[in-house]
Amino acid sequence: MDKLVIERSGPLCGTVSVHGAKNAVLPIMAACLLSDEPSVITNVPPVTDVFTMMEILRGLGVGAALAQDRLTITPDAYTGVVAPYELVSRMRASVCVLGPLLAKRGRAKVSMPGGCVIGARPIDLHLKGLQALGASVEIKHGYIIASTSGLRGARVQLGGSFGSSVLATGNVMMAASLAEGETLIEQAACEPEVVDLANFLLTMGARIEGCGSRVIRIRGVARLRGARHRIIPDRIEAGTLMIAVAMAGGDVTIDGARAEHLGAVIDKLTEAGASIEKLNGALRVQSDGALKAVEVTTLPFPGFPTDLQAQMMALMAVSRGVSLLTEKIYPERFMHISELNRMGAQITREGASAVVKGVESLRGAPVVAPDLRASAALILAGLVAENHTELDGVDHMERGYAGLEEVLARLGAKITRVKQG
Ligand code: UD1
Repeated sequence: MDKLVIERSGPLCGTVSVHGAKNAVLPIMAACLLSDEPSVITNVPPVTDVFTMMEILRGLGVGAALAQDRLTITPDAYTGVVAPYELVSRMRASVCVLGPLLAKRGRAKVSMPGGCVIGARPIDLHLKGLQALGASVEIKHGYIIASTSGLRGARVQLGGSFGSSVLATGNVMMAASLAEGETLIEQAACEPEVVDLANFLLTMGARIEGCGSRVIRIRGVARLRGARHRIIPDRIEAGTLMIAVAMAGGDVTIDGARAEHLGAVIDKLTEAGASIEKLNGALRVQSDGALKAVEVTTLPFPGFPTDLQAQMMALMAVSRGVSLLTEKIYPERFMHISELNRMGAQITREGASAVVKGVESLRGAPVVAPDLRASAALILAGLVAENHTELDGVDHMERGYAGLEEVLARLGAKITRVKQG
């Protein structure tokens, strides 16, 4: 597996464009299963999770071809209903084929996703929602086996102990689009990726109202068409780059970064000392790298995203004063603390919070990325650390970031990939 070698770099300068959002494209690929007609999706990021979802679709008998950023999905003759353990264990988002398969084929057999390194990841809300629409569900030999003789619209509450669920909202919205009658999803997730999925479904001919709010109304239709759709920009990639510039200093324009998707991030980076200017279709970030402590709590959208928590912790590690970071979505998502501390950070965990005492400087060290977003946090830490940092576990980064090291290198970061094996 490759390694990244990161040297102290900065300031970062120039203009970059963000890719399409990984978290938007995955459920949209699953939504293609709702039609017999081909769909064309553009602005698709070349990340491993997209390739895994293509494998899942192909396993169901669906054509999936990616040329540049354009993905063509051809579901005309698919009969498969199984998403196997080997693929679902690689990517939890595979569970979003459950709703479409059930609605279109009346049956689905999807491996239980299980937990992952960021903690327990239950799927009770997905199952509750689909059962409310009339599906029978049983768990057998590690598989969710769901069937229905016809889904019917219903009132569904999707609030859980940690807020609403993004992919459960997606799963129920997709299934309800082909159900008979009206579905009301209450306590729905409001994330921009849910809105992008709804926009895709609307283009397919679905009847959906209220997306982006806490209550979504769906009136089922008998069939859905194929559709063309451009994926929204990745707010997590944009936020990661914004944090990088705030830490390393510099002046970078991030094309495609949408202020309306990044309000909480803009707010916290400004409070820490960076300057962020809203341009037409872009955000410009300027910083001298001298930052001060902030308090951040991760929350469902429009709160600060959990997928930027690790990167923000890297920023806090080199900010003057004591920062407090509280994780309200995944209380166990703190695997990166020990790696950051190996680089000289002073972070202590207290339950679902981390207390981060800012240090003058981090020191480069060999580190291992424990998960996707933590990989980015360690790269950012490496950019401001003395000497060089060697990052292992780059495959995690590749699941969700398209060429992050190249994007940063274009801005002046000193990062090289060392091929191994
Ligand atoms: C999506 C994102 C992921 C992001 C997360 C939260 C994709 C592909 N992934 O994941 O990057 O970190 O939203 O913004 O879009 N929960 C339950 N029961 C359920 C489902 C979830 O209790 O049935 C809990 C989870 O454990 C978590 C919280 O609800 O504590 C939010 O999770 P959820 O929104 O479902 O995350 P995903 O949709 O899987």
